[in-house]
Amino acid sequence: MQDLSLHVMDILENSITARATKVIVKVVMRTGKEEMLLEIIDNGMGMDAETAARALDPFFTTKTGKKTGLGLSLLKQAAEQCGGEMVLTSGKGRGTRIRALFCTGHPDMKPVGDMAGTIDLLRMTHPEITFEYTCEMED
Ligand SMILES: Nc1ncnc2c1ncn2[C@@H]1O[C@H](COP(=O)(O)OP(=O)(O)OP(=O)(O)O)[C@@H](O)[C@H]1O
Ligand SMILES: [Mg+2]
Repeated sequence: MQDLSLHVMDILENSITARATKVIVKVVMRTGKEEMLLEIIDNGMGMDAETAARALDPFFTTKTGKKTGLGLSLLKQAAEQCGGEMVLTSGKGRGTRIRALFCTGHPDMKPVGDMAGTIDLLRMTHPEITFEYTCEMED
């Protein structure tokens, strides 16, 4: 995937499948530290402990007729390839939170892409879901 907005599109697809009614996407640019934090929080059905433990495995999916589940593992890989990390927190009935940290000065950091455009597209195709998007600078 060419940029992070495409990864986010994929991750939000998971929130939609999990029947979230509210999704928060937060980007924080820590310019002083050359870091970018990406947080995605949904109020969908969440995952039980066993599912959450396996969710980052590219060969784990709960989709029927599929042998791979790539969305989460590819975002994790995008974070790690530039020296960052990704943490997933989820609980059954308690929604899901993803925090991914990117090192913006690293040569393998992917471009952010059109994050606002991606969220707008999802707002149009899923008017029943509230998508909250913020992007802020932090020194
Ligand atoms: N926001 C979420 N809420 C509840 N369960 C989730 C959420 N995101 C992921 N999961 C669970 O983790 C699994 C793996 O997610 P991942 O995005 O990596 O792959 P996938 O959605 O199964 O397939 P792909 O993304 O390749 O189409 C999903 O099948 C689902 O069971
Ligand atoms: Mg997915």
